[in-house]
Amino acid sequence: MADEPRGTAERIDDLERRRAEAVSEADEAAAAKQHPRGKHTARERIRLLVDEGSFVEVGEFALRRGASFGAEGTPPHGDGVVTGYATVDGRRVCLFSHDFTTFGGSMGEVFGEKVLRIMDMAMKAGCPVIGINDSGGARIQEGVVSLAYYAELSRRNSKASGVVPQISVIMGPCAGGAVYTPALTDFTVMVDRTSRMFVTGPDVVRSVTGESVSAEELGGAEVNGSVSGNAHYVASDEADAFDWVRALLTFLPPNNLTAPPECPAAETAVPATDLDAVVPDSPNRSYDMRRVLAAVLDEGELLEVHSAFAPNILCGFGRLGGHSVGVVANQPLWQSGIIDIDASEKAARFVRFCDAFNIPLLTFADVPGYLPGREQEQRGVIRRGAKLIYAYSEATVPKITVVTRKAYGGGYAVMGSKHLGADVNLAWPTAEIAVMGAEGAVELLHRDELSEAAANGVRDTVRAKLVAEYRATMTTPYVAAERGYVDSVIRPSRTRERLVEALRMLEAKREESPPKKHSTMPL
Ligand code: HXC
Repeated sequence: MADEPRGTAERIDDLERRRAEAVSEADEAAAAKQHPRGKHTARERIRLLVDEGSFVEVGEFALRRGASFGAEGTPPHGDGVVTGYATVDGRRVCLFSHDFTTFGGSMGEVFGEKVLRIMDMAMKAGCPVIGINDSGGARIQEGVVSLAYYAELSRRNSKASGVVPQISVIMGPCAGGAVYTPALTDFTVMVDRTSRMFVTGPDVVRSVTGESVSAEELGGAEVNGSVSGNAHYVASDEADAFDWVRALLTFLPPNNLTAPPECPAAETAVPATDLDAVVPDSPNRSYDMRRVLAAVLDEGELLEVHSAFAPNILCGFGRLGGHSVGVVANQPLWQSGIIDIDASEKAARFVRFCDAFNIPLLTFADVPGYLPGREQEQRGVIRRGAKLIYAYSEATVPKITVVTRKAYGGGYAVMGSKHLGADVNLAWPTAEIAVMGAEGAVELLHRDELSEAAANGVRDTVRAKLVAEYRATMTTPYVAAERGYVDSVIRPSRTRERLVEALRMLEAKREESPPKKHSTMPL
C-alpha cells in the first residue's frame, strides 16, 4: 500500500492522482471498448448532451463493497455508473449514465445508491432527470441486492412521475431492470442499430422458450419505435438522440409547479391563407394534417413523439405565440385518422404528460371514429380506447379544439370535445359532426326507400338527394354551433389568431378536481 500523504500539497497531488484514475484513466479504458462498437463512453455521452463544462460529477470515487473484493482485485471506481448534474441550454438537469464496460453497466449496490441519490436530488431541486442506459440489468453477482435497488429505483421513478420530467436514453443492449425502469419514465429515446430493449436477451429467450430470435427483431429500435411503442423517438445515431432530448427540454418546465418556458413568438412556416385550401372538396380524399400545423404553430415546428407508432394520430410539442403547447391531431393520411388501440394509448399518455406539466392541449380533429372489427375488439379496444376519453376528461390544463373535417361518433366525443371539458371549441365550415358519415347514415336510415328506388332504377339519384339532405341538416357544424358544442365556426385562415387569443384568455385557468387518493383509470 502507498504511503499516506502528509502535507496539504501532497494531499492535493494525491487527490489529482486518484481523480485521474477514477475518471480520465477509467474513461480511456472504456473508450477502447466502446468506440469499436460505434458507442461513446458514459462520460462522453454526458458531454455530448450538456452545456460545455457544466457537468458536475457526484460519486466518482464510489467503490463496490462486498465479500469478493479481495478475489477480484481493486474494484472499478464509480461502480458502472456516472452520476451528476449539469445544464442543458442553461436549464438544470440531473443525470446518470451507465458504463457498459464495468460489469456490463449492471445494477449493483453502490451503483444503485448513486442513482437513487441523484434521483432524490432531482426531486428536491425540482429538475428533470435524464438516464442514459447501457446495461445488462440486475447484476448477477449481487443477487437480491441488485433486485432490491431496481425496485427502489422503480419506486423513485413512480414518485417522480408527474413531478419532474424523466427522460430515458437507451444506448446499448439493455435488458431487465434497464428497460423496466425506463418504461416508468416519460420519454424513451433509442438509437437505430446500436440500442436494444428487451426483458431478456436472445440467449435467455432461446434457453427458456426455445424460440430463436435475433436481438434486432426482439428489441431493436425500429421494432420498439413502430410496433411496441416503447420508444418515443428513434435516433439515427447517439448525437441525434441527444439533439432530440435537447429539443424536447425546450418545451418542458423543470417541474410540475413551474410554467413551461416561454420563447419570443415566431411566424408560421407557411401563410395562414394556405388553410383555406387544405381540406379537399371530396370527403373521401385525404390531406396531410402536418400542413395544418405548419400554418398554425410558431415556425410550423412540431417535435413529434412516437412518430412511427400509431401514425394515424399525431402527438407532439409546438409553440403558439411563444408558449409551449401539446398537439394531438388525427392524421387523415393514415387510415383516415381513425382511432385504434395504439392511437388511443399513444395520445392518452401524451395528454396526461401535458396535463401533469402545465402544457396546454391543442387538438385538431378529423376522425371517422374508433376502428371497428374483431381484432380490435379482442385486443380490448373498449378498455384501451377508453384511456383517451379518460385522459381528456381528467386534464385540467387549457384545452382548445379545432374540428377541421370529420368528427364522427366516438371520435367526436373523445377528440377534445366540449363535453370532455374543452375550454374553446372551434370548427371550420368544412366540419362534419355527426354519429356517422352521410353515406353510411343514409344506407341505414333509408333502407326501404333505397330498395324501392333501386326497383325503379333511380337508386343513385334518390341516394344522392338523401345524402345532400343529411349533410345539410345533420353534419353541418352549425348544428353543433347552435347548441354551443362549438363556440364558433371560423374561416380556416383565421385559426392561428383565434388559437393565440384563446390561449391568452386561458392563461390563468384554474380547475379543481375533487379530492381523491388517485384515479382508477382503465389501464
Ligand atoms: C453482470 C453482466 C450482466 C449482468 C452483462 N454482463 N449483463 N454482468 N450482470 N446482468 C457482463 C457480461 O458478463 C460481460 O462481461 C459484459 O457485461 C458484456 O456482456 P456481453 O454479454 O458480452 O455483451 P453483449 O453480447 O452485447 O450482450 C449484452 C446482453 C447480455 C444482451 C445485455 O449480456 C445479456 O443478456 N445479459 C443478461 C441480461 C439479463 O438477463 N439480466 C438480468 C435481468 S433481470 P465481460 O467480463 O465478459 O466483459 C432484471 C430484474 C430487474 O434486471 C427487476 C426490476 C424491477
